[in-house]
Amino acid sequence: MRMLVTGGAGFIGANFVLSTLATRPDVEITVLDKFTYAANPHTLDPVAQQIRVVRGDIADAIVVDPLVAAADLVVNFAAESHNDRSLEDPSSFVDTNLVGTFTLLEAVRRHGVRLHHISTDEVYGDLDLDDPARFTEATAYDPSSPYSATKAGSDLLVRAWVRSFGVAATISNCSNNYGPYQHVEKLIPRQITNVLTGIRPKVYGDGHNVRDWIHVHDHNDAVWTIIDRGALGQTYLIGADGEVDNLTVVRDILELMGRPADAFDFVTDRPGHDRRYAIDASRLRTELGWTPRYTDFRSGLADTIDWYATHRQWWEPVKAGVEASYAKTQHTL
Ligand code: NAD
Ligand code: DAU
Repeated sequence: MRMLVTGGAGFIGANFVLSTLATRPDVEITVLDKFTYAANPHTLDPVAQQIRVVRGDIADAIVVDPLVAAADLVVNFAAESHNDRSLEDPSSFVDTNLVGTFTLLEAVRRHGVRLHHISTDEVYGDLDLDDPARFTEATAYDPSSPYSATKAGSDLLVRAWVRSFGVAATISNCSNNYGPYQHVEKLIPRQITNVLTGIRPKVYGDGHNVRDWIHVHDHNDAVWTIIDRGALGQTYLIGADGEVDNLTVVRDILELMGRPADAFDFVTDRPGHDRRYAIDASRLRTELGWTPRYTDFRSGLADTIDWYATHRQWWEPVKAGVEASYAKTQHTL
């Protein structure tokens, strides 16, 4: 199988490329990535001889068209992915998440190539802390941030291209990922690398916001399950029953790193901050028989701490810049 992996130099896409190479020798991989600030140019170095890497923009039809024409399957991980950045400047989110997805859709339509589109649970908005409900594939879209609104729009474009043009596509909406190779702007790697560099972890607002954590390897395993057995035109929610509030995440990190559990600061809240996400992945589990393997969050967190502690050269070059940028808008409460 010839596979085009867009965004394959980012966090989830790179993990997908590495695990696919390790387990599926029959898959020929081409990565198309713009190498924005979010891509670490060295993540794919160890496999550089086994894949083709093209530096380019998914919104550039001239680049996209021949790559799609030469593929049997496109898996689209490429996106602007960070909520805080989308609140500072949403323009690249519209360009990549909306125009980029549109460009890929037109190319897969022209060439009759299957697409799997990677999306997020944030398209459903948020839930109250005491609401017993969880998101399902039938939940109405209600995104809150420029990031989630552009991801919601990208999903709706995919659905329209399936219905109107018969494009062969599937969509997955996953909850919060953690694991190796995640950019240090995101909650878990930010706090781990804060502790490693002598900075107190930073918790937004009251810290009671809940995210539904899943290990990146489980996410990518579910993506393969959908590629192998998913019904064309269908949407699948991916989650591993991992609801944890931010205060617990940060206290767990501190404890696992041998620091007092209260050695963190509360800082300025994120505008429009979603309260809680929660995924009901019954369709994926019952129809496709998928189950997660990383079900012990503290143990997954301990492995992730170990990875950042032993891969300082991977994140150290960008750490100070990320903290300087956050310091412009975030103040200790
Ligand atoms: P990331 O920011 O780590 O990586 C995104 C990658 O896309 C980077 O390599 C970047 O260079 C590339 N990219 C950005 N704009 C591009 C463009 N115009 N053309 C080509 N490449 C471009 O993101 P991630 O966390 O790996 O997320 C990957 C996908 O998974 C996104 O679609 C995101 O919405 C979705 N998702 C993420 C999470 C999560 O917790 N991180 C959860 C659910 C869904
Ligand atoms: O739900 C899936 C989404 O998860 C993905 O679609 C996004 O691409 C991904 O970035 C993530 O979005 P979040 O906004 O939930 O992730 P983030 O790591 O930015 O923040 C997680 C929670 O932690 C959120 O409630 C904000 C809070 N937070 C974040 C940072 C960076 C803090 O309290 N302190 C921090 O320093």
